[in-house]
Parts: sequence; structure tokens; C-alpha cells
Amino acid sequence: MIANEVLAKFKEIYGEDGDIRVYFAPGRVNLIGEHTDYNGGHVFPCALTIGTYMAARKRNDRKLRFYSMNFEDLGVVESSLDAFTPDPDGLWINYPMGVMWAFEGRGMKLEQGLDIALFGNIPNGSGLSSSASLEVVTGYMLKDLYGFDVTNQDLALIGQYSENNYNGCNCGIMDQFASAMGKKDHAIFLDTATLSFEYAPVILDSAKIVVTNSMVKHSLVTSAYNDRRNESAQALKDLQTVVDIKTLGDLTEEEFEAHKDAIKDEVARKRGKHAVYENQRTIKAVKALKDNDLATFGKLMNASHVSLRDDYETSCPEVDVLVDEAWKISGVIGSRITGGGFGGCTVSIVKDEAVEEFKEKLTAAYQEKVGKTPEFYVVSIGDGPSIAFLN
Ligand code: GLA
Repeated sequence: MIANEVLAKFKEIYGEDGDIRVYFAPGRVNLIGEHTDYNGGHVFPCALTIGTYMAARKRNDRKLRFYSMNFEDLGVVESSLDAFTPDPDGLWINYPMGVMWAFEGRGMKLEQGLDIALFGNIPNGSGLSSSASLEVVTGYMLKDLYGFDVTNQDLALIGQYSENNYNGCNCGIMDQFASAMGKKDHAIFLDTATLSFEYAPVILDSAKIVVTNSMVKHSLVTSAYNDRRNESAQALKDLQTVVDIKTLGDLTEEEFEAHKDAIKDEVARKRGKHAVYENQRTIKAVKALKDNDLATFGKLMNASHVSLRDDYETSCPEVDVLVDEAWKISGVIGSRITGGGFGGCTVSIVKDEAVEEFKEKLTAAYQEKVGKTPEFYVVSIGDGPSIAFLN
């Protein structure tokens, strides 16, 4: 079990004394509702059973020591509770440090430092929210070890705040919320304008959720992401000159079409269109799932991909190959890019009997057209954060 391995590593590096605990927080996959979470729209992610395991123990001084089994060559990285300045090279400790900094900013002072060792079993850079799971597991650990009075929803907000303000990625709330609030066998239908949410059971009788890793991550992801955010904000601003709305999520498709000429810039108009239509698709998709109409759910997933590819332009040629090939297979109910984009993973709903064919055909086509071998994960939907080991 991974928790035991992380605990063993912790003891090897820092010694066995004291109260050492191991925590877990999951990554996520988003089924539909992409790039809507900073546009006041809906999202429909679920927590995975893979994520980040963190072993931690309080110290008697103000030192912080970090060790990641994913970056063993870095060894133990030292910092302190008096050094909350982001590492300019974007070292991974910026994520847990950012969360500690955000706790302190909310008046939850960490009087003692920490020794930390961790391991994440989410493939790096795959778009399955390894960073959100690291933020949430850090918050969950702080809550438990220092006895802070915070809810899991607070942990999601603190994680997002730290990512925005300490790590410089202007992300929305989806990833941290999915990690902190996950529920086994359920996806979270979240209205990001109000944070009201509902758990929807995702029990697929004769199909699987298959995540396919394109094994590519394009550079400038963060800046391209922040650009999309600014372009959507511009679309909103222009629309607000003609219609009384707070977010793009307030509009139906018809309302958007009636007012879209107010958006002067063509690129911003495409971004706005995606945000409005994707939000409506997400609402329709959740209804279809509740009605047990998986075929409609799949069609909406496919339409989501087309919109992300053409209007929001967050797909990339490699990922498009995976999606195009998936669409050719009759046992594929739906397939789309998932997460922030510019590489990363696709999410597909595949009938049980077609899973092997799916893997074989996508592998062959991807090797031929891209020259890489994709990875496949048949995923299960898991719970939010937990204590994985207690002395
Ligand atoms: C990233 C961000 C999320 C969300 C998605 C796109 O994962 O962290 O907030 O915007 O991209 O849906």
C-alpha cells in the first residue's frame, strides 16, 4: 500500500520518533464543463482513486523540510515558516508552501515547522490535477495536525487562492473542489457562480470511464490558460454593455446569439461562445445522465471537444488524434479532451466490450500519426481527502 511506502520513506529520511501521520487527497477527471469554472458556469468533475499521499510530523522549531518521492534527485528541500517567498524556478514546494502561506493569511498561524515526505501516483503533467491534490492534501494535513477549524470546502478555496496568488496560475475552483469534496461513485455537479452543488451517481452498468494520456504537455500552458481567462473576461465585459449579466454562465445559447455582436474582437467572441454553450451542455448532460440517457451524455461530450478545439482552442493536434480515433469506434459513447488542455488527457466513456479495441486502435493510430505511445487508465471514482495512516 502506498501510504506504507511513504511512511517508510519518511522514517528513513527523518527518523521514526513522534506522531507521524499519512494523508491522501485525490486527483480528478472532469466529465464535462471545461473552462466554465471561471466564467460562472457549471462543471461536472469526479475525484479519482489516485492522488497525493503526504506523511507529516510537526517539528519543535520553525523549519520546513520537504521530500518528494517523485523528485528524488532534489533530495530534502529546506525552507522555513519565515520564508514565504515563491521559488522563482517553480519548485514543487511552492504548492504546499502556498497553502501554508494562505492558512497564515487567514489567521491560522503555524507555530511549529514540519517534516514532510510525499508521493503522488497521478502521472505528472497529465491534466488530472496533481497540483490541486497536493494543495488539498496539504490543507487537510494542516487542519488535522494543528486542529484548525476548516471545512473541506474551505480547503478547496484555500487551495485555489494559493494557486492564484502564490503560484501565479489564475485557475478556477473546479480542481480543488473536486479533490476536497469528492464522493465515491459520484460526480459533482457544481455551479461555480454560487458554489452550490449536487452529487450525481455515475454508475455505468456496462461501460467504463477511460482516461487516455497523450503524453504531451505543451509549454506556456499557464500563460495560454491565463490568456483564455482574459479573453473570456473581455467577452463578458463587452456583453455587459448590452445585457445585464454577472457572468457568461448567466446566458442561454439564444441570448448569446442575440447579443454576440457586442463582442468586438473575433477571438473573444469565440471564447465567449464556448463558455456559454459549454455551460448549457453541462446542464443538459447532467440531466441526460439522471434520465439514464448515456447516448445523449456522450454526444454532449463530443460537442464539448469540438467547441474546445475550434472555439476555445485549448486542444492540440496530438489530443485531436486520440479523440478522432475514439469517435470511429462504435463502442465509444463519448470522448473529449479533459482539464486545462494543450496536451494532457482525454476522457472517454467506452462500452465494456470495446475497451480492448479502444486501447489497441488508439495505440496503433497514435504511434503512427504522433510517434508516441499513449497510456490508458480505466478509472474509478473515489472519495475526497482522508487520513491514510495514523499512529
Ligand atoms: C484547469 C483549471 C481549472 C479549470 C480547467 C478547465 O484544470 O485548474 O480551474 O479551469 O483547467 O476546465
